[in-house]
Amino acid sequence: MNLTQSYTAADIQKFLVSNLAKVIEVSPEDIDVNEHLENYGLDSAQAMIIISKLELLLGFKPSPILLWHYPNIAALSQRLAEESQNNLDIKDGVKTTSNSLNTAPFLDLGAEAVLDPTIQPIGSYTGDIANPKNIFLTGGTGYLGAFIIKELLSATQGVIYCLVRAENISEGKNKLVKNLEQYGIWDDKYQQRIIPVIGDLSEPFLGISSPEFANLAANIDTIYHSAALLNYVFPYSALKTANVLGTQEVLRLACETKVKAFHYVSSVAVFESPVYAGKVVKEQDEFNHWEGIFLGYSQTKWVSEKLVKIAGTRGLPITIHRPPLIAGDSQTGVCNTHDFINLMIKGCLQMGYFPDVDYNLDMSPVDYVSKAVVYLSRQEKSIGKAFHLQHPQPASLKSLVEWVRSFGFDIKMISYEEWQNYLVNNVTSPENPLYTLRPFLLERWSDEQLTIPDLYLQARRPVISCEETLAALKGSGVSCPVIDSQLLMTYTSYLIQTGFLSLG
Ligand SMILES: NC(=O)c1ccc[n+]([C@@H]2O[C@H](COP(=O)([O-])OP(=O)(O)OC[C@H]3O[C@@H](n4cnc5c(N)ncnc54)[C@H](OP(=O)(O)O)[C@@H]3O)[C@@H](O)[C@H]2O)c1
Repeated sequence: MNLTQSYTAADIQKFLVSNLAKVIEVSPEDIDVNEHLENYGLDSAQAMIIISKLELLLGFKPSPILLWHYPNIAALSQRLAEESQNNLDIKDGVKTTSNSLNTAPFLDLGAEAVLDPTIQPIGSYTGDIANPKNIFLTGGTGYLGAFIIKELLSATQGVIYCLVRAENISEGKNKLVKNLEQYGIWDDKYQQRIIPVIGDLSEPFLGISSPEFANLAANIDTIYHSAALLNYVFPYSALKTANVLGTQEVLRLACETKVKAFHYVSSVAVFESPVYAGKVVKEQDEFNHWEGIFLGYSQTKWVSEKLVKIAGTRGLPITIHRPPLIAGDSQTGVCNTHDFINLMIKGCLQMGYFPDVDYNLDMSPVDYVSKAVVYLSRQEKSIGKAFHLQHPQPASLKSLVEWVRSFGFDIKMISYEEWQNYLVNNVTSPENPLYTLRPFLLERWSDEQLTIPDLYLQARRPVISCEETLAALKGSGVSCPVIDSQLLMTYTSYLIQTGFLSLG
């Protein structure tokens, strides 16, 4: 069965430019075919929209790995033009490109974890960890960053200098305010306490001019590093600049001129190597194994945290915070509707089916995560430690589905195989968010040819202990809300009110 039709590189390039422009809402003239795709700030869902459209054009599903290997449009178009001539394999109802394209290059993450030797704390830390006056925060235009700002505003008197990607100060301020407004956090009284710093993680010295960098280096007391590119499609190579080298640049700022406290938002993904499967991992355990960490994003989190640990051994006062998936605010239900879990729920509801898989809902509400980060980071005894913001009593996916059903949604559980087939054969338009996530859900990775959901099955994961974190939070008034019908009602109501979900 030959589904290919021959397209020239020029045809494909034109198609990609036009679709990328549509997805990121700019004019096609603004797209540079030699620019790295990552620089257009595509999130996973947007990348999937482009891959799905390419599939329709070309008649075969290009592996997302192609985007990894050929991250600019000009090179990618050349390669796709070649590929459109190739024969296709039809396997298990899922079309795949030839094996050579699905083979990721060997990556030695251990060798990546090298911190620039010039990054050395000058002297020792003399600051007041509980009451920083000048705080530098990355990721303030994102989800968790917004809630960290909220907690810092109430727990400290400090001014928060926020790294923002923008053309100028006023655009940067608008971006911050808009983000805080969308999560119901902004108040005009915060005007003087939230200051944008225009820059970019993926540039040396964070893209900040030398005088401004020197000024920040001399005056900042504490740093919260929450920014990262969360893209589940791009490989390590495409995410490294922002996530790994960006962390190195923030560490540089932390060490230069005066020693600053450095609080890093990592992820439980640092324990994603199959070596930890089924084992209990505690907060202060080493995470030396990286073999078999599959997602490029998780790989960057592993390397970045290693860099932070190295800076700690050089004398930088660090704290590390590892959240699981971050769910909505437990009081208001406000959440990031673009995240993977919400798109999955919406897509499965539209489909009428959830896959019957053994998963725990590995999620903690954003208000818990942000309160815990801010409380723990302000304790002297936290220095040098890592914390697990894992839910202490996670619920199973099955119990979520039961609950969703009781709320009035017509939903059935079917085997994962049936669900995959249904996805391939019936989810054929972008109206269902699963359509754009199909490559992510169906693509087979790793030597065992497993899909991403296979790789995240309960049996393949470690047991993340949060005992030490709960002990450190004792007496703080910060506790993780129980996942019960009240919490799920709050979440569902928000999603219905905002029109993200509908009962009809
Ligand atoms: N969300 C989760 O479920 C989850 C789970 C575990 C760990 N984490 C970690 O938690 C942190 C925050 O995640 P989130 O959910 O808040 O992510 P998010 O909503 O996607 O926000 C990401 C933030 O990083 C910024 N950023 C990305 N690339 C940048 C660059 N090159 N220069 C400057 N800023 C850049 C973004 O700025 P723009 O607005 O300019 O894009 C945005 O402010 C991340 O470190 C993530 O790895 C998240």
